[in-house]
Order: sequence, then C-alpha cells, then structure tokens
Amino acid sequence: MATRSQDVRPERPEPGDADIVLTPMRRRHLRGVLRIEHQVYPRPWSLGLYMSELALSSTRVYVVARAGPNVVGYAGLMLVADDAHVTTIAVDPAWHRRHVGTRLLLCLVGQAVARGARQLTLEVRVSNTAAQGMYRRFGFAPAGVRKRYYVDNDEDALVMWAHDVHLGDHAERMARIAAGVAGTTIVEGFE
Ligand SMILES: CC(C)(COP(=O)(O)OP(=O)(O)OC[C@H]1O[C@@H](n2cnc3c(N)ncnc32)[C@H](O)[C@@H]1OP(=O)(O)O)[C@@H](O)C(=O)NCCC(=O)NCCS
Repeated sequence: MATRSQDVRPERPEPGDADIVLTPMRRRHLRGVLRIEHQVYPRPWSLGLYMSELALSSTRVYVVARAGPNVVGYAGLMLVADDAHVTTIAVDPAWHRRHVGTRLLLCLVGQAVARGARQLTLEVRVSNTAAQGMYRRFGFAPAGVRKRYYVDNDEDALVMWAHDVHLGDHAERMARIAAGVAGTTIVEGFE
C-alpha cells in the first residue's frame, strides 16, 4: 500500500525536533540508564553502583535526559571541596550528535557552580576524540595522562581540567554553547 508523504515519520527525530527534559536521576530511571550504559561502556556500572552513588546526594549530582518517557542520556558529578569531577556522561547511540551530551554537560556545570565548584575535572580515554571535542568546547584542557587507567584494554586516560568555572568568562562560554543548541531543553527538579 502506498504511504502518503505526510504519514511518513522518521524512525528517530531530526536534530532539534524533540524536547529534552533534564531531571535529577532517580531509581526509576536506572533501567533506561543501564540500557545505555551497556551499549556504550565496555565495563558498565552496575545497578548497585548507581544506587550507592544516588544515595550520596550531598556530594553527587546525577542528571538524566529524557525524550518523552525514554531516558536518552545521563551524566554525573562528584563534588570534593571546590573541585567537581565528572564521573560519567553517556548518550543513547541513536541520539548522538543532537546536543544531548552538550545539554547534560551544561546542566552539570550549572549545578557544580551552584554548589560552589571553581574547577571541573574528568578522565577520558585518549582514543575518545568525540568526547574530547565536546570537553574542549566547554573549556576543558589536557593536564596529564593516567597510564593504563582503563583496565579493559589498558588504555591511558587523558586528565582534563576546566578552571575558574565560577567566573564570568566561563559563564559567557556556557551561554554561547547554550545559544547554539537547537530544540527545547526543559530543566526540572533541581534546587
Ligand atoms: C561523548 C557523548 C556523551 C557525546 O554526546 P552527544 O550528545 O552525541 O554530543 P553532542 O551532540 O552534544 O556533541 C557535542 C560536540 O562534541 C563533539 N562530538 C560529539 N560526538 C562527536 C563525534 N562522534 N565525532 C566528532 N566530534 C564529536 C562535537 O564537537 C560536538 O559538537 P557539534 O555536533 O556541534 O559539532 C557520546 O558520544 C557518548 O555517549 N559516547 C559514549 C560514552 C562516552 O564516551 N562518554 C564519555 C566518557 S569520558
């Protein structure tokens, strides 16, 4: 049967045609989180590890990105004094390059600054140039290498830092990034 063109729906949304809702990660999101976790990481975190991270609410921030009912990405932060350490960030492969990761990181940076962070740090595989590109855009710069940090393949980690994230220049950088994100982003449930 012929299908009229207006009946044809894309299998997945085009960039910017979906609302993304960012909310604090809750236990009810973990099934969706783990589904992505198992797709993108060779050594996925377990349900128990996520549960214990969520229990540490005074020093952790975990956020999920939802499109409709579906978790399409998530990210986390550990706060130690005025350092904020990005513990994880991942996006459903079907949603890559739609600025979901950017929106998650914008949210994390905002939460880090709101909680008194002055610098952000993270580790990233030396081969993960996609993530490194995103981090550089956010002002992260390489600061060193942790040799054989990733035990699945003995890969080195690049350690990156973004300094003075509480100051106006960095806030302007974040505003420029946010202005370049197509689509609607709704942030709910954070203090
Ligand atoms: C890294 C990751 C979270 C990025 O999520 P995303 O939603 O696809 O990223 P965005 O669309 O926000 O991209 C932001 C920028 O990062 C860079 N980037 C992201 N993916 C890229 C790719 N595959 N190739 C080159 N650059 C890429 C680009 O500069 C991009 O900006 P642009 O699309 O405007 O050019 C996602 O690729 C992912 O989940 N990877 C697997 C898990 C992982 O590696 N996490 C990081 C661990 S440290």
